[in-house]
Amino acid sequence: MTRLRSQDWFGGTGVNGFIGRSWLRNQGFTDADFDGRPVIGICSTWSELTPCNGHFRELAEHVKLGVREAGGVPVEFPVMSLGETILRPTSMLFRNLVSMEVEESVRANPLDGVVLLCGCDKTTPALLMGATSVDLPTIVLSGGPMLTGRFRGAPIGSGTAVFAMAEQVRAGTLTEAEFRQAESCMSRSAGHCNTMGTASTMACLTEALGMALPGNAALPAVDSRRRVLARETGARAVGLVREDLRPSAVLTRAAFANAVRLNAAIGGSTNTVVHLLALAGRAEVPLTLDDIDAFGRDIPLLVDLQPSGRGLMEDFFAAGGAPAVLRELAPLLDPSARTVTGRSIVENNRDAPPPDGETVRTLAHPLARGAGTAVLRGNLAPDGAVIKPSAASPGLLVHRGRAAVFHGMDDFRARIDDPDLALDEDSVLVLTGVGPRGYPGMPEVGNLPLPRYLLERGVTDLVRISDARMSGTAFGTVVLHVAPESAAGGPLALVQDGDVVLLDVPARRLHLDVTDEELARRRATWKAPDPVSEGGWQRLYVDHVEQADRGADLDFLRGRRGALVSGDNH
Ligand code: FES
Repeated sequence: MTRLRSQDWFGGTGVNGFIGRSWLRNQGFTDADFDGRPVIGICSTWSELTPCNGHFRELAEHVKLGVREAGGVPVEFPVMSLGETILRPTSMLFRNLVSMEVEESVRANPLDGVVLLCGCDKTTPALLMGATSVDLPTIVLSGGPMLTGRFRGAPIGSGTAVFAMAEQVRAGTLTEAEFRQAESCMSRSAGHCNTMGTASTMACLTEALGMALPGNAALPAVDSRRRVLARETGARAVGLVREDLRPSAVLTRAAFANAVRLNAAIGGSTNTVVHLLALAGRAEVPLTLDDIDAFGRDIPLLVDLQPSGRGLMEDFFAAGGAPAVLRELAPLLDPSARTVTGRSIVENNRDAPPPDGETVRTLAHPLARGAGTAVLRGNLAPDGAVIKPSAASPGLLVHRGRAAVFHGMDDFRARIDDPDLALDEDSVLVLTGVGPRGYPGMPEVGNLPLPRYLLERGVTDLVRISDARMSGTAFGTVVLHVAPESAAGGPLALVQDGDVVLLDVPARRLHLDVTDEELARRRATWKAPDPVSEGGWQRLYVDHVEQADRGADLDFLRGRRGALVSGDNH
């Protein structure tokens, strides 16, 4: 092993060596800690304001044990956490900010390798993006999902059940008191959402990307075996440093292709599209929306979990988790992808349990065919839009209907239940002003609630189109991530009430049945919205955020900048 970068701080003589070591000794560091052992940073997103990550301080202790046992020196440090259910206006506004904080924290400190403690939705992509731009040996440990909750004897899935029950309240089939009662039934243990929402999906994709040990995604947060995994992850971080195995050797195009394939097979969140595109940008791997459509197009749905199916993450764990799916998918994976174990993705999962035929299906008997996130194009989305077919109503995947247009969520909430809109089951709800720049931050509002009077008539789904995202726990025939967004002058901004919209998912088409001449006339009178913020982070974000088809990263953050630091700590 060549001289470690931490020795630039700890191995020196004179004033700089004294300063690098002395202050750390106040925490009990010994001479042995400075003798050239790998220093492993444990990047934690613990926060009581991020309930999904509330158990991370304890988990970090088990990582430290593993680092110590393998001959390394663990140092835990915090970065801003992102509580999906708490942060306003949307946690996505801060994903790139946290990625910057991770990148600068890792580079500026005497670290040789990093363990990323990820859990709630945006914490996984934020930490991966930041660490990838530095490219020191890195491994992910997820916090794990919550245990299955039950309400009136039936399993209750994070998010998915909330959306369904909220519609029942609106339809008058569930009382407010019962809705309130379900709150404590749902969140009965530490951990992140127990559906195949964005957190679970991103945890699965870290395995497919090769950035976490096999089994990382599905182990429940409170299962004692997650502590064992934490210990093994800490030990492996030391091994990565000794082998100089960095994200640049793991996050290849083959790894991204495998991640997209697993995302399709598990019925994963549409949010992974923007996260994978942004991460690929940091890894300097060419990846486009069309690649995502192509990689996932022929992949069948193998996992029967909410929101696409029935089960929850505890069921997935019992059925073998991501390793069982990756084993079954092996003939469709790119076997050249190397992982943090030092082995290939196929070798990692060769001995995983076979599909149980229930929660995890076989390629021969899938739940559905062609489950990958579909990328739509047309005059309404010249740079693309996405839809998750496995969470949509089959009868709406090819649809023609008249638009009802809402400009932002305040407008939507004020008018959606107005009977004078006279919406019916063929109507297409169009929402503008909720993209990366327009909101700002691209919130999860794309799965718009249906009007009360249609719910009362038994209508359960409408085609909905916006430049927003939607929660990975949500469902419906929802077209998302329309690019360019309306605030950037995309055609979505030009849709008017009554326009006919054509959605054809099999043909990958999203078309506004309005002539080019009429659209040009409307564009001539279109005015860009006023800036939503005068300064601070929001100003920087709005000025530099890229569109959804490029991952909504900041333009100046793309790429790797490495771990070199010029100058001492003056
Ligand atoms: Fe944290 Fe769902 S709210 S993962």
